[in-house]
Amino acid sequence: MSFLLLGLSFRLATYEVAIALPEPKLRGMSVEEAIRSRRSIRSYSGDSLSLVQLSQILFAAQGITGKRGDKLLRAAPSAGATYPLEVYVFVGRVRGIASGIYHYVPDTHSLEVLRIGDFTDSLALACLGQSMPREAAISVVLTCVPERTTRIYGERGMRYIYMEAGHVSENICLEAISLGLGAVPVGAFYDEVLNRLIGVDTQKEMAIYVNCIGKPAKRGERK
Ligand SMILES: Cc1cc2nc3c(=O)[nH]c(=O)nc-3n(C[C@H](O)[C@H](O)[C@H](O)COP(=O)(O)O)c2cc1C
Repeated sequence: MSFLLLGLSFRLATYEVAIALPEPKLRGMSVEEAIRSRRSIRSYSGDSLSLVQLSQILFAAQGITGKRGDKLLRAAPSAGATYPLEVYVFVGRVRGIASGIYHYVPDTHSLEVLRIGDFTDSLALACLGQSMPREAAISVVLTCVPERTTRIYGERGMRYIYMEAGHVSENICLEAISLGLGAVPVGAFYDEVLNRLIGVDTQKEMAIYVNCIGKPAKRGERK
């Protein structure tokens, strides 16, 4: 894994490198307190996240929380348990892993390395030049693979997919609060630019939501 730390910027042909995430903790702030405290946070300190914090956020997003027959069930509800969402992480500052773009694998609670390098500027530009992706320690991008849901529910499946993205985003926002972090959901981005940045095949998969997360800046402090 040492080459990750060199910050080399290149696209790995396939998912060749996996990073195991720490086991998520199952105790923290009460849901009521997190709901009461949640606000969209758009300015972050320059602090890095720990791998434990990253793990916790991804678990809240799509972590495995149960089993029905052979089917693994995830942290957020999904119409017919079709799980149309994929989770990508733009890492700006996380201790122990290089800046880059990663793909979360719920079943193994691990990250696949997609691209190494600092892509936070590119993400900010994709988000209409909004500053949060550039400042945030991480940004979580949700994509969807519509066919997983529309093959069962037809056109209505698209509606379900957007609902599901809302569930996941709220889980992320509340988990961020519980960890003493701040988050903002971002729906304003250029679809084509973001899809290209992640490298998805837009015939099958497309970006639908971004969540930027970092330690909130103190008053008057910016990264
Ligand atoms: C679907 C959706 C898209 C959003 N997109 C953006 C965005 O692109 N940029 C931004 O700064 N905030 C965005 N927000 C955050 C809202 O501006 C914010 O939730 C609202 O102002 C209420 O503030 P609060 O979240 O602190 O309660 C979005 C929120 C939602 C639900």
